[in-house]
Amino acid sequence: MINGRKVILSGIQPSSSSITLGNYLGALINWVKLQNEYDCCFSIVDLHAITVRQAPQELRANCLSLLAQYLACGIDAQKNIIFIQSHVPAHAELAWILNCYTQMGELARMTQFKDKSKKHHDNINAGLFTYPVLMAADILLYQADLVPVGSDQKQHLEITRDIAERFNSIYGDVFTIPDGYIPKNAARIMSLQDPLSKMSKSDPNPNGCIALLDSPEVIIKKIKRAVTDSDAHVCYGEEKYGVNNLLNIYCAVTSKSIEDAVFEFEGKGYGDFKRAVGEAVVEALSPIQQRYCDLMNNRDYLESVYKAGAQKAGAVADRTMNKVKKKVGFIV
Ligand code: TRP
Repeated sequence: MINGRKVILSGIQPSSSSITLGNYLGALINWVKLQNEYDCCFSIVDLHAITVRQAPQELRANCLSLLAQYLACGIDAQKNIIFIQSHVPAHAELAWILNCYTQMGELARMTQFKDKSKKHHDNINAGLFTYPVLMAADILLYQADLVPVGSDQKQHLEITRDIAERFNSIYGDVFTIPDGYIPKNAARIMSLQDPLSKMSKSDPNPNGCIALLDSPEVIIKKIKRAVTDSDAHVCYGEEKYGVNNLLNIYCAVTSKSIEDAVFEFEGKGYGDFKRAVGEAVVEALSPIQQRYCDLMNNRDYLESVYKAGAQKAGAVADRTMNKVKKKVGFIV
């Protein structure tokens, strides 16, 4: 709690050149709403990204691009602390300390570690294993009350709470115990090709995922190819995963209710429906893409944003670090 307002912290890895439509509709759209009610810290978590091998030039470009995408989506650099994780050394420092308060067995149970170890079996590094401890450091440094995350990150939030409670039980009230924050109407956007799994930039089928920066033609094409069913009836249904997903996307970008959307497409086929969804997505993303281009042409401004962010974030983080160091017994 700062100035009587609850603190929110969240972050996205700069591991690709564009966030997905799923990131935008599931996370960023809500972050934009939260910035008026809470003290928000939004991070670009590059330290997390290197748990998987990254090409240096690409990582650098992706970080800057992600910053521009945050801003283009409407995250306000004045109202929030927007920063690049590696610019605030306290993250790595606290992660080390918290490593000494985390058990191997707890980390070995993390499903994301197990999944990523399978996927990157030639690079199961110690960073991949202690990834959740770095995430705990991200959250605890800012004494965050609420952490907006998708359901795939719930386990990491649980372990963050466990580590914080353990630390507090030894040293007294050092860390705020964070809660997950799942907005009531957060859209959960699924792959267009496999609507039972989450839309993800690592989708094996590139047509499954729409990037925030995809061109209108590509967006229309991907939605045209989206998996539906043989029922040819636009409605929300139990086994109609593909159509449900398209309806969710349509409603998320147009702010219409599902009932209104279903009514609108009554008697129409999937071809018409998909065209309308595609056009609605293009319409929603094009002003964002325009702002993104303008921002990318203004490197000086982007630099000023991440520098100011690092300073503001560093000041908050250092306060927590100081407390932690004293508690642990370091000379400060
Ligand atoms: N692990 C998160 C993800 O992959 C990213 C992340 C890192 C994060 N640190 C965080 C999310 C702190 C919320 C809070 O989605």
